[in-house]
Amino acid sequence: MRITMIGTGYVGLVSGACLADFGHRVTCVDTDAGKIAALHRGEMPIYEPGLEQLVETSVKAGRLDFQTDLSGPVAEADAVFIAVGTPSRRGDGHADLSYVYAAAREIAAALKGFTVVVTKSTVPVGTGDEVERIIREVNPSADVAVASNPEFLREGAAIRDFKHPDRIVVGTSEERARKVMGEVYRPLYLNQAPILYTERRTAELIKYAANAFLATKITFINEIADLAEKVGADVQEVARGIGLDNRIGPKFLNAGPGFGGSCFPKDTRALVKTALDHDVPLRIVEAVLAVNDNRKRAMARKVAAAAGGNLRGKTVAVLGLTFKPETDDMREAPSIPLVTGLLDLGARVRAYDPAGMEPAKHDLPNIGYATDPYDCAHGADVLVIVTEWVQFRALDLARLKNEMAHPVIVDLRNIYRRDEMAALGFTYESIGRGA
Ligand code: UDX
Repeated sequence: MRITMIGTGYVGLVSGACLADFGHRVTCVDTDAGKIAALHRGEMPIYEPGLEQLVETSVKAGRLDFQTDLSGPVAEADAVFIAVGTPSRRGDGHADLSYVYAAAREIAAALKGFTVVVTKSTVPVGTGDEVERIIREVNPSADVAVASNPEFLREGAAIRDFKHPDRIVVGTSEERARKVMGEVYRPLYLNQAPILYTERRTAELIKYAANAFLATKITFINEIADLAEKVGADVQEVARGIGLDNRIGPKFLNAGPGFGGSCFPKDTRALVKTALDHDVPLRIVEAVLAVNDNRKRAMARKVAAAAGGNLRGKTVAVLGLTFKPETDDMREAPSIPLVTGLLDLGARVRAYDPAGMEPAKHDLPNIGYATDPYDCAHGADVLVIVTEWVQFRALDLARLKNEMAHPVIVDLRNIYRRDEMAALGFTYESIGRGA
């Protein structure tokens, strides 16, 4: 198959590299000439484990290349994927689809022969209809089918998720398009990943419903954690106890400082907006968003309480800034409202993150940045674990304690054992472990 991927952001680049790895001939297109030049030099615009190597191998094998002009690659393609950004529109929370529609316009003019145009970007229900309308308006004679093929990639595990998906969702009513998409994903089909063929609007809704459900699951366990703390129960055991029920499942039940990232907050907001537009308010998802926003803000007060109620003039060490481990992504990271709250309460903040410090300097310019976790802890009155990077699980805790002015740890990811921390002489607060 010849595949053209429009957009070399997170989704486009990972998907393009993986599809090339399957043996397809893939061209990734981006209007940002600087980005394409960097990719030609083998430099990745994002941090994703394994991506650089995957790109290098496929480029060397002649299966993957990068261009700024889409006309040639689109004309040759069997399938053109639209994987451009859909940021939250400023002011109203709707997804901004201007990049998607601009791509559709350009693609339309370049189409030759039967082509499946696939929206991979997360787009509100009905966007595929509009993409098809635009293409037929620009190029009435185009032989085209427009499909929806949402992605379910987690940052930090995106390549594994792409190659071992729980399912592939393809939304199109056209048999010809289903055949092309079946070929595109044939290697996965051979891996026995189920392909679910649906109507286009259904596929679009599946993506939003999946993200909203997962965000709900996290928020549910976060509220149970707060209750567990008060009634003297342990949320991790509650999560295990309910997760062993197959109807509930064990995943996404880790209590923490609230969900962040480039997808859950943006997509749940967009879903709530779409639902309101159709006069079907999604009360549960609305509550999830409100609870999650409050939670992120409340974390600074939790730290203050652990430090004796007052942070004025105190030094807080923050370990982990990115919204989750194995990424340098700071988008909607819980660390941002947390650190802002700590500064508002009069604290001095010094932070360390294995990958996110450069991007963090943009969001959090008024704090100190440390060279390693021990340097971060030096002289601190309280230390907060915000992101569960593996290296934080293996710290020399005795050394950490020696660095600190006061041995107080607030662990927002429950990465340490309470009995061990007590034995080491720490005052230790975590999430939902009141037992
Ligand atoms: C998510 C979806 O998982 C993915 O399918 C979709 O395509 C994009 O959005 P991602 O944002 O990369 O992926 O990260 P994910 O691992 O899902 O975590 C999202 C947020 O939820 C993080 O802030 C994480 O810390 C938090 N989380 C996740 C919890 O607090 N507890 C959990 O049990 C799981």
